[in-house]
Amino acid sequence: MAIEIIGTGRAVPPRKVSNSDLSARLDTSDEWIRSHTGIGNRHIADDGTATSDLALEAAKNALAMAAGFTGDAQNTADRDLAAAEAAKSIDMIILGTATADFIGTPSTACIVQHKLGAEKAGAMDITAGCTGFIYGLETAAGLLSLGRGRKRALVIGAEVLTRVLDWNDRGSCVLFGDGAGAVVAELTGAPAEGPQRRGLVRTILAADGSGGESLLFRRGGTRYPFKKGETIENGVCVEMNGQEVYNFAVKAVTDTAAALMQAESLTADDLAIIIPHQANARIVQAARRRLKIAEEKFYLNIEEYANTSAASIPIALDEMNRSGKLNRGDIIMTIGFGGGLTYGGNIIIW
Ligand code: COA
Repeated sequence: MAIEIIGTGRAVPPRKVSNSDLSARLDTSDEWIRSHTGIGNRHIADDGTATSDLALEAAKNALAMAAGFTGDAQNTADRDLAAAEAAKSIDMIILGTATADFIGTPSTACIVQHKLGAEKAGAMDITAGCTGFIYGLETAAGLLSLGRGRKRALVIGAEVLTRVLDWNDRGSCVLFGDGAGAVVAELTGAPAEGPQRRGLVRTILAADGSGGESLLFRRGGTRYPFKKGETIENGVCVEMNGQEVYNFAVKAVTDTAAALMQAESLTADDLAIIIPHQANARIVQAARRRLKIAEEKFYLNIEEYANTSAASIPIALDEMNRSGKLNRGDIIMTIGFGGGLTYGGNIIIW
């Protein structure tokens, strides 16, 4: 039995903010941001939009595809009908995010479960920073493989990071954007081993908690709780040591790609595409030089979306899928890294 992806979806807010837009109010420039990160734009959610709203849209698009809906995926009544039907077949919803609607509870996954009408689904969030989708997919695969009657899982990565940024800190605020991506994973009759094998065939999940403070939401948890009546000046926005994260990320991408290829006896030539977490194009370039893998093997859309954390890999997967760039049998490698610190990757045979 294989764990196959039978539907993909994404949702990004319509409001697009370019580097030049930012430089009008911040001491930065299009030239600096592009040359240091590869980022040109980011999409920013309007005030009333929370993470679950983007997650819900991405999920509907993935569910509708899983149900065979082939029309325009944006907000059509037919899409919603197809998605609502497919939602009833979902056994588990797993949502990776660093920017949940609420701290602690309810989980963002539960909010999505309710709005989808996924009445038989369990639902939970995964906190693994930008590696959340990779952790989520493997967790879903584990649950589906247990033989306890679960057949389908919805795995989502969703973020509204721009709401937790310090917009005066040019070293961090230019890097991030909002969005969501989702997949429907199904336990199918296809073989999981041998030459005809399909689906999620290998995953690496790793962590280095010693670096946790280099990417941190300091306030609001039990370590540094908000106190009633307190005026909060600092610590509510994401704090980042860019250099430390950069060095960690280059090694994480390099080590994960090498380990996945070794474990599956693959060379770069065997891979149809590598989808790295879209944090900084320079991180990908540095890693690929170490790995000696050609630039064309890596899918990059960071120019358009910036870093959407847990959403970046499923957004990229959906873009490729919907534009017909994925063929049956293609070997796809995903690589994620981020807060925790966490890292890892998947090998998926499409
Ligand atoms: N615009 C203009 N100048 C900027 C700037 C901006 N947006 N951000 C920083 N600078 C300046 C700094 O103030 C510094 O100026 P100084 O030399 O006068 O002090 C200079 O640029 C160099 O800063 P530095 O931090 O050394 O730049 P860098 O080349 O290391 O790039 C990052 C900074 C953040 C782009 C890079 O470290 C990075 O991408 N790190 C990983 C971050 C990440 O991916 N996080 C999420 C992981 S999931």
